[in-house]
Amino acid sequence: RYGLAQHARRSGRHFGAAVKSRLLREDTGFRAAVARECDVVVQEYELKRGTTEPKQGKYDFSGADQIIDFAQDHGMRARGHALVWYAANPPWLEPALKSASGRERQRLMTSYIDVAMRRYAGRISEWDVVNEAIEPNQGRADGMRMDSMWMKALGEHYIDTAFHTARETDGRATLFLTDFGLEHDSPRCERRRTALLKLLDRLLGRGVPIDAVGIQGHLKPYKERFSERQFADFLRTLSGYGLKLSITEFDIADRGGPPSPEKRDREVASIAKAFLDVSLDNPAMGSVLCWGLSDRYSWLSNFPEYKWPDGQLSRGLPLDARMGRKPLWDAIAAAFDAA
Ligand code: G3I
Repeated sequence: RYGLAQHARRSGRHFGAAVKSRLLREDTGFRAAVARECDVVVQEYELKRGTTEPKQGKYDFSGADQIIDFAQDHGMRARGHALVWYAANPPWLEPALKSASGRERQRLMTSYIDVAMRRYAGRISEWDVVNEAIEPNQGRADGMRMDSMWMKALGEHYIDTAFHTARETDGRATLFLTDFGLEHDSPRCERRRTALLKLLDRLLGRGVPIDAVGIQGHLKPYKERFSERQFADFLRTLSGYGLKLSITEFDIADRGGPPSPEKRDREVASIAKAFLDVSLDNPAMGSVLCWGLSDRYSWLSNFPEYKWPDGQLSRGLPLDARMGRKPLWDAIAAAFDAA
């Protein structure tokens, strides 16, 4: 029984999913499904600083270690998510940033890059070095995210420092800048694409060592339209910079879709196929990872904006709650086969 990774491999690509160490430990059906479908995995939250450094200088990588061990046992690659993010930080960090001097502030950011990348050098081949740096809705002309402790403490050059530190720490790793809300044909997404491209112009112009852009790919087709042309143009611009591309957190929020799950599954599958056909048409697109693998454990089912008010599960991932393949699975397989 071919998994999605075998379909991806036919066009020299990879398919994977975000996983939780607890699920790999406790749900043998889920664990078997990941082993069958994926050849790359990423930690859903176990490598975020709030999880790994609850106290300054006191690290707990046990969850991430379990995921990396699983990946190695199954001959899979692993992504690292995320070294510098405005969210999921431990409570001690922001006060420490505020009271530190310039150089000490930088060190408060780069120390985590150092520790995490050294620990997994040779086992994590690509890192989300900076995640979600832009947010045009917060009013800055350059569209940079203002509610980021890093932006407030260090200004935009926190990104330069993060990538230079990452390059020096593990020269073999592929370094990603990742963001969301880049996929749809909406004013919101258009503003975000523009802000990201302007940021990339500045960073690459300053010689910042960014290898790749991760487009998270959280689609919400019942709230915003998808237009192949806009997204294809965006990908062409990115790959025109010589950057590699990945869809790093693919899933589809089906809230607002037709009441019949079967009908919704078919619609979700067709939007996914259209999105992936455009994504995989660009030779720079190297891998697609879903943010989870089974509807049983999707974050969409408990996130205020996406969860169903009646408590039914979101159906935005390729496997249903019993690890069975859905039309979305077929759509992903077909998109890889056509690539
Ligand atoms: O495991 C602990 C548990 O021990 C504790 O009792 C419980 C209550 O605090 O928290 C549990 O950790 C939670 C973790 O998910 C595992 O379920 C954290 O509170 C919760 O904040 C965390 O949420 C994650 C969220 O990022 C914030 O880190 C979601 O799983 C994860 O799906 C979500 O993923 C993000 C990407 O990193 C970035 N892109 C958007 C995406 C979706 O929001």
